[in-house]
Amino acid sequence: MRIMLLGAPGSGKGTQGEMLAAHYGIPRLSTGDVLRAAVRDGAPLGKQVQAVMAAGELVDDALVVGVVQERLDEADTANGFILDGFPRNVAQARALDRLLAQTRRLPIDLALHLDVPIREVVHRLLNRGTEQGRADDHEDAIRRRLDVYMAETHPLLQYFDARGMLVTLNGSGTVTAIFGTLAHAIDEHCSRSGV
Ligand code: AP5
Repeated sequence: MRIMLLGAPGSGKGTQGEMLAAHYGIPRLSTGDVLRAAVRDGAPLGKQVQAVMAAGELVDDALVVGVVQERLDEADTANGFILDGFPRNVAQARALDRLLAQTRRLPIDLALHLDVPIREVVHRLLNRGTEQGRADDHEDAIRRRLDVYMAETHPLLQYFDARGMLVTLNGSGTVTAIFGTLAHAIDEHCSRSGV
């Protein structure tokens, strides 16, 4: 099963992605986590992307596609995976199609969109900024991340809807209730399509 999670910054992609990965026994690939680890480790990739990420801008497509390619080349993705935070624009979505074909992986089954009001995601991100100090969880970067999301990533909803892959779900409520809704959508898709 190959799933992607879409949604604004703070919509719960990471939280739900981790739970879904454990539940279905497939790996989760978060481009944001890989990039943050590179920054933390002082890796050359991290040095390239640190300022861009802290400002809330998107990292260069070629760099991110390289990260995804490296991960999809690993054997544990053969039976499925969860993409969190990738693709972020139409160019990355097209690159993903090419990558899946190159690595002889089947196409993505479902694009799950977590729909959360902007006021709520801002509240969640400001809270996390206070509690954990993530470099891009302050007011200016949050505003920029949301603008970039609307301009670059939101159009992907229509892109995947046109391909019959999109399911939009309410991303407000308790973490457990949202997980139940997501798992139900995935199980329903699997039983319908015999995955
Ligand atoms: P990335 O790491 O992908 O961050 P993001 O999209 O901004 O998303 P977040 O991680 O902030 O939120 P989330 O939706 O995962 O929600 P979460 O579960 O964490 O990207 C960061 C940066 O990396 C980008 O800005 C860019 O620079 C770069 N990058 C990454 N991928 C890229 C790509 N493909 N192309 C180019 N650049 C890329 O939850 C957020 C908070 O809310 C947490 O504190 C959580 O505990 C809380 N929460 C979760 N669910 C609930 C709930 N139901 N109720 C209350 N609180 C909740």
